[in-house]
Amino acid sequence: MNLNTLINANKRKFDIKFKKLLKNKLDKSSLSNAIFYGSMNGGKRIRPFLVMESAKIAKISSNDAFIIASCIECIHSYSLIHDDLPSMDDDDYRRGKLSTHKKFNEATAILAGDALHDLAFELISGNFKNKNVISRLSLINYLSLCIGYKGLALGQALDLEYENKKLSKNKILDMYSKKTGKLFEFSFSAPFILKDKSKIDIQFAKDYGMLFGLIFQIIDDLIDEIGTFKKIGKTPGKDVEQGKSTLLKLIGEKQVTDLCNNKINTFVKKYKNKISQNPILIKMLEFGMDRLN
Ligand code: IPE
Ligand code: IPE
Ligand code: MG
Ligand code: MG
Ligand code: MG
Repeated sequence: MNLNTLINANKRKFDIKFKKLLKNKLDKSSLSNAIFYGSMNGGKRIRPFLVMESAKIAKISSNDAFIIASCIECIHSYSLIHDDLPSMDDDDYRRGKLSTHKKFNEATAILAGDALHDLAFELISGNFKNKNVISRLSLINYLSLCIGYKGLALGQALDLEYENKKLSKNKILDMYSKKTGKLFEFSFSAPFILKDKSKIDIQFAKDYGMLFGLIFQIIDDLIDEIGTFKKIGKTPGKDVEQGKSTLLKLIGEKQVTDLCNNKINTFVKKYKNKISQNPILIKMLEFGMDRLN
């Protein structure tokens, strides 16, 4: 089956279950409405797809994979709601619709983001089939590290601090690895951690997720510049308008794609055996690069 078809099928399945989960938990308050709006409004669900593929390799139950995936989409949605705020990227549109602070108001959007963050921890500390308390705790601990003061939140802070500055390639890549890479790293390695896999296997999964995330962000910058509203669901050209320090701006499109291909080649060399057992992993990286078409 073609990868797009697989991703869309997974999205459809995920959305049905995630919608049900939210409906069961939320009420009719404005806060609940904003939480629902900001998390059920047409995301591609790429991270849940990574979780599903990793869950197959690590052999965790589909129930546990769904808990991990929904926890990640709560964190991801919170990060986007906050990312769009006037004090951050000031985007009025997200996924083709008004961003959450435009649809509701700023305070409600901030609190909906906060509550989604908390819901993620409610989910990941909840109903796993896997009863191994140690691996469940290390998963929660690892999530906290991936998204906090040295992960996603720091990456977002650096993204803002770096506006209108000329930075080295490595500084920009470091910022990408934090704001975007870490959540992808978590997405692909969480099933391995829950299943208490070997250190080597867990490192492989972390490296794969991080590589996927880096490529994803690099291509996201490219799409921001050359995509249309219809394609990206937000106003194009905002990165340039806001003086964002992107790799694309620093080294140009050709070098950016070369860098991604080199990173994929280095990864494949390092993990030849694991990759040959799971050829879909390469297809997924190529899909990440191919998002423009
Ligand atoms: C957008 O992520 C933010 C980045 C990290 C580049 P996605 O492109 O996965 O957003 P949705 O969930 O599909 O809208
Ligand atoms: C967002 O990066 C990364 C997050 C952690 C939210 P961007 O600011 O480039 O994401 P978009 O382009 O608004 O989706
Ligand atoms: Mg941003
Ligand atoms: Mg943004
Ligand atoms: Mg972007």
